[in-house]
Amino acid sequence: MDPAAPKPKENMGEPLPRVDARLKVTGQAHYPADLPTANLAYGALATSSIAKGRVTKLHLDDARAVPGLLDIVTYGDMDKVEKPKFGNAGATSIGPLHDRTIFHDGQIIALAVAETFEAAEEAAQLIRADYEEEKPSASFDSPGTKTIPAAGKSPLFKEDVKAGDFDAAYAAAAVRIDARYSTPTQHHNPIELFSTTAFWQGDQLIVHEPSQNVTGWKAELARELKIDPANVRIVSPFIGGAFGSKGPMTPRTAIVAVAAKRLGRPVRCVTSRMQAFGTQTYRAETRHRIRIGAGEDGRITAFAHEGWEVTSRPDPYVVGGTSATGRMYDYGSVLTHVSLVQADRNTPGYMRSPPETPYVYALENAMDEMAVALGMDPVEFRRINEPKAEPIGKKPFSSRSLIQCYEQAANAFGWAKRDPKVGAMRDGDWLIGMGCATAIYPTAVAPCAARVRLTSDGDVRVQCGSHEIGTGVRTQMASQRLGVSIDKVTVEMGDSSLPPAPVSGGSISTASVCSAVLKACDAIRAKLSAGATAEGGPLAGSHNEELDLDGGKLAARGGASAKIEDVFKAMQIGAIEEYAEFAPKGATPEAVKKLYAGQSEFHGGDQDEDSVKYAFGAEFVEVRINSYTREIRVPRNVGAFAAGRIMNTRTARSQLMGGMIWGIGQALHEATEVDRRYARYVNRDLQDYLVPVNADIRDLQVILVPEVDHAVNPAGVKGLGELGNVGTAAAVASAVYHATGKRIRDLPIRIDQLIA
Ligand code: MOS
Repeated sequence: MDPAAPKPKENMGEPLPRVDARLKVTGQAHYPADLPTANLAYGALATSSIAKGRVTKLHLDDARAVPGLLDIVTYGDMDKVEKPKFGNAGATSIGPLHDRTIFHDGQIIALAVAETFEAAEEAAQLIRADYEEEKPSASFDSPGTKTIPAAGKSPLFKEDVKAGDFDAAYAAAAVRIDARYSTPTQHHNPIELFSTTAFWQGDQLIVHEPSQNVTGWKAELARELKIDPANVRIVSPFIGGAFGSKGPMTPRTAIVAVAAKRLGRPVRCVTSRMQAFGTQTYRAETRHRIRIGAGEDGRITAFAHEGWEVTSRPDPYVVGGTSATGRMYDYGSVLTHVSLVQADRNTPGYMRSPPETPYVYALENAMDEMAVALGMDPVEFRRINEPKAEPIGKKPFSSRSLIQCYEQAANAFGWAKRDPKVGAMRDGDWLIGMGCATAIYPTAVAPCAARVRLTSDGDVRVQCGSHEIGTGVRTQMASQRLGVSIDKVTVEMGDSSLPPAPVSGGSISTASVCSAVLKACDAIRAKLSAGATAEGGPLAGSHNEELDLDGGKLAARGGASAKIEDVFKAMQIGAIEEYAEFAPKGATPEAVKKLYAGQSEFHGGDQDEDSVKYAFGAEFVEVRINSYTREIRVPRNVGAFAAGRIMNTRTARSQLMGGMIWGIGQALHEATEVDRRYARYVNRDLQDYLVPVNADIRDLQVILVPEVDHAVNPAGVKGLGELGNVGTAAAVASAVYHATGKRIRDLPIRIDQLIA
């Protein structure tokens, strides 16, 4: 063990309240569409009512007659603008106004701009189109879809992982299962709607838009508009929920920017929730076939995971979660294959915990089935298949605390009291079921820059073009490292004029940003220490490296100390400012350059040479199913998670709870229904698109399992924004089986599937 490693308990950060909590609950947080803007004009989108074909003619006269109408941006007006590029933060390459081809229902056909929001909406509604309509292919099994292998089609998914001889091992296995699973289309539905406000100051374009990637968007928008990135500024001070939906820049941003330029005044477009279903990304529907072979002793010898995913015609977005499922257990042999099914749909994208959700749902449901087939306790089944190294590249895990997670969660849950017999547990009219599943999420980090300034009176300012996803941990990192109290630290982020940061996605933010902040803080500490110990300094004669900075003082090991204001005085300066670039181990100077060009290069996960890096968790769920009505309730949910250093136990717990609640939603509620005749989403609002409410969630317990891992990054942080969402749905499916004997393989699990 590394003697310098902090003891596990010290690895848990203080449970400080969120720095922005008060602002948010008192309505003082200004989201991008709330930022006061003078002389504002309003934009509203008109969208296609067919999913496939061509626009032959637009009728704009009725719209033009609306009092207050200022402009209509449509075909012909975007010809000098480059089409969006798939791959830049997952942006779709459908340039909706570049040509008249319709790729999906709800595609933008025009932007109406008016003096008021109401006039813009009215005009947009009055825009009519004539179409040359073709029969669209909606989804799996629709005539006219095209199925292609996913590997190599997208930078996001390079290969189908394999190990050993699956066919031979599966054929020889004593116990086998072969089962198919599916998950529906799901939309993110953040409470804050999608909006763009654009205005020009001379050559400078300023865009206020909720974004998880201001650095990336600055580069992409400049490319589309063919202007210097130095002239583009993206501002996103707060985000009212994103979950991946505000990661890719959509075509709307450039259209609104063009409208603002034509009009010579600021234009704001807030898309309605209904429109957002077609103009933003979503989680693709998926299908899975899983085969597992094992010996009588429960040791897995063969594992195959085939996946199918729906995508748009032009863009090969891949969810592709087989890289993690193929490495999860000690399988012996592995075979995986992912296919894309191209349909007449908008391009899917990242949605919380891609790609593990939904692939791990299929794997863990299958693991539960296999445990039943073997007559084995599902926790014991995972334990005996715990790997020493991952089966694909035979690399060790940098750390893996899955079994500790299972032990702690099982204890807290009371797993020992479970009667393993199906349908054996009952409370009056209610059948009780208990189930469990594994959560996994890759630990990645990306290059990141940050600027930190410490003044002689102990004020600290942290600047980083990262995003508010609500955890406030940058503040804590600076406060700890510079030994000042939290209230002395201010953090500026969500602005592309700040030092560049990677996309706030893939659970990389805390680790990447904190590593850069740490580096800048350490540079400040080094300068202060050098000043203090220099000749004539207040700690002259002490050794630099022995100094400790805390409570506004530098302390030497012998007991001598100096207030930092005295150190600053001796140095004859008022402040120290340091700019740091963090590059993950193995990142080339090229990768750091790419950061400035708006591209995030992920390191870690399954990519590193030395080890694979993942965070783990174990989730236990109790369900109650009414024996007459089959109503399903989830009264209890316990999750234990190990994710390296926890910066803040309070906000970490909240993140994980949010993920688990979402998991219950995926298990029981969430599905975007597609009208297969028209390739159109049907339930496009929060009345019909179901998400869990307070009454659905009862007793939810989060356990943070201590874990020290210095291999992942200097901050020792694994990240957990997406981890809590991964295992829940499979744990619910496992519990539903235990209660009823019905194996539900298609999400969401609803009453009709449980009626015999
Ligand atoms: Mo996350 S879906 O990578 O914002």
